[in-house]
Amino acid sequence: MTYIVNDACISCKYTDCVEVCPVDCFYEGENMLVIHPDECIDCGVCEPECPADAIRPDTEPDAEKWVEFNRKYAELWPVIITRKDPPPDAKEHEGEAGKLEKYFSESPGTGG
Ligand code: SF4
Ligand code: F3S
Repeated sequence: MTYIVNDACISCKYTDCVEVCPVDCFYEGENMLVIHPDECIDCGVCEPECPADAIRPDTEPDAEKWVEFNRKYAELWPVIITRKDPPPDAKEHEGEAGKLEKYFSESPGTGG
């Protein structure tokens, strides 16, 4: 089992999650984070930290596509272990539908 980040993170990217992860398995894209499914130890402490409710266990419906999505980008993007300021318009994107199609960027973040 693992936890994953889904599209609710896109353009919100609060990064509160990275501060609590005991194994530093969050990776940073330009406008979202992902979890490396093979590194996550399923502790669950990050889930309640996300204001956008973007972190979910892989036991939920449609989780399999998100596990593969998280694995793919975790292997391409840099690790992030330090909280950063969210985008200035993060609040406006909370709960918005269709963010994957509208905003997702494959570009890496800066990590750190
Ligand atoms: Fe890290 Fe635990 Fe969240 Fe997995 S569940 S990403 S190990 S804080
Ligand atoms: Fe994204 Fe939530 Fe972390 S918005 S960066 S998964 S705190």
